[in-house]
Amino acid sequence: MAQFHSLKVKHIDTLTPNAVAVTLAVPKDLLQTFAFEAGQYITIKKEIKGKELRRAYSISSSPKKEDITIGIKRVDRGGFSDFANTKLLVGDTLDVMPPEGRFVFAPETKKQSFFKKQGAPKNIAAFAAGSGITPIMSIARTVLDSDPKNTMVLVYGNKSYEETMFYTDLVKLELEYPERFFVYFTNSQTREEKALFGRIDTSTVNYALKNKHKDLDFDSYYLCGPEEMIHLVSDTLKDNGVDASKIHFELFTTTEIKEELPTTMDGQTALTVVVDDTEYQLTMDKSTLVLDAVLKENIDAPYSCQGGVCSSCIARITEGGAEMEKNQILTDSEIKEGLILTCQAHPTTPFLKVDYDDV
Ligand code: FES
Repeated sequence: MAQFHSLKVKHIDTLTPNAVAVTLAVPKDLLQTFAFEAGQYITIKKEIKGKELRRAYSISSSPKKEDITIGIKRVDRGGFSDFANTKLLVGDTLDVMPPEGRFVFAPETKKQSFFKKQGAPKNIAAFAAGSGITPIMSIARTVLDSDPKNTMVLVYGNKSYEETMFYTDLVKLELEYPERFFVYFTNSQTREEKALFGRIDTSTVNYALKNKHKDLDFDSYYLCGPEEMIHLVSDTLKDNGVDASKIHFELFTTTEIKEELPTTMDGQTALTVVVDDTEYQLTMDKSTLVLDAVLKENIDAPYSCQGGVCSSCIARITEGGAEMEKNQILTDSEIKEGLILTCQAHPTTPFLKVDYDDV
């Protein structure tokens, strides 16, 4: 199921002292396999110090381009992002899984099209912090390319201009689309020309949307960055009367917050796993995460971040029950219909069956 393909590194561009943009060449026979929607990510597999690592990186390039560019910020000494920033070379090959992800720039929903004519120009607002800009770059390029009347407003938070990924590309886009693309850089550690000062907060959101662009009726809002920023912007938008269905977000976090396990996590569970039409059976401790138990048995289940942020590991519970440590991806109704992030799930029943094919 988790099929990786070898892609050659075509360019490596320095974005900041701690981030690079890596462009991968997609051969003609894999163009269909690597076709993607703006906002999606790829997973890279790499063995480092004898350990297989998988990391998910959002695509910054436009879906119209054949090559795929990702942004990689160095967050882990000795991990993949460190390797990519210090050792990766043009001409190397990387094992890459085809694009996936649900944080995409999509055509209007039925509800929206009831109010707005199908195919009408879109006004999009986006809020990004740090490396959360990566999928927003692809979304911005797609919004601006797909209709000559589309408009996009972006608020982008960083510590300083020096730490701002894709700064030059954003300025170029602004020059290319002066009437339709508006960027508000906001720097929290340095006071700089043409930038707001501070973190993205309620006043920044309101300044951009209710002051500078009060005449625009926004169709969708895309938020990408740390959890705190996403909650703040999302709550501000809802307080301003924005319907939750218009707010899309992707969590970019490097910290893993594991919650205390409830005492009911004692004991064992008989786990049945369905992957690629094959059924596997194993016994696992309830205190173990379902995906960890599955991978320990060398079952080829899909996964990427193992941190509850990418959605690769979703499976459907068809018998028994499980609880997640954290979930920022699945909606209440998806959980109700049995979907679960297996990298976050502990069994809660003596028998559990999860199906990776039925999602
Ligand atoms: S592997 Fe990324 S959410 Fe589970």
